[in-house]
Amino acid sequence: MIGRLNHVAIAVPDLKAATEVYRHTLGAKVSAEEEQPEHGVSTVFIELPNTKIELLGMLGDNSPIAGFLERNPNGGIHHLCYEVPDIKAARDRLVEQGARVLGNGEPKIGAHGKPVLFLHPKDFCGTLVELEEA
Ligand code: CO
Repeated sequence: MIGRLNHVAIAVPDLKAATEVYRHTLGAKVSAEEEQPEHGVSTVFIELPNTKIELLGMLGDNSPIAGFLERNPNGGIHHLCYEVPDIKAARDRLVEQGARVLGNGEPKIGAHGKPVLFLHPKDFCGTLVELEEA
């Protein structure tokens, strides 16, 4: 069912510093910073030849990554994003198998303007999984 790895997301305490690590130290191509108010984060995308890295910084008071950053003050891998051809069909199949979809179960528009859903880490080997329709 899942296809390509769309991105690996890394939550960071300081988005500007993290962007410089990727731009300067690692010599990667980085996007401009974008605020995603609906998701409570600011994002920067790193373009790699075979996938992307999504740097996530907190945005606002109720950022969903605040707890994660409290437990991981230096930052850390936050989620993996897999592409699926039909997000509602993927959700229905996963729910049927007992997997938990976060939020109200309806896809939201993600950072790439495409519908996304998040799946409970306890059901997926301890890893928060994002599905993106591609
Ligand atoms: Co993501």
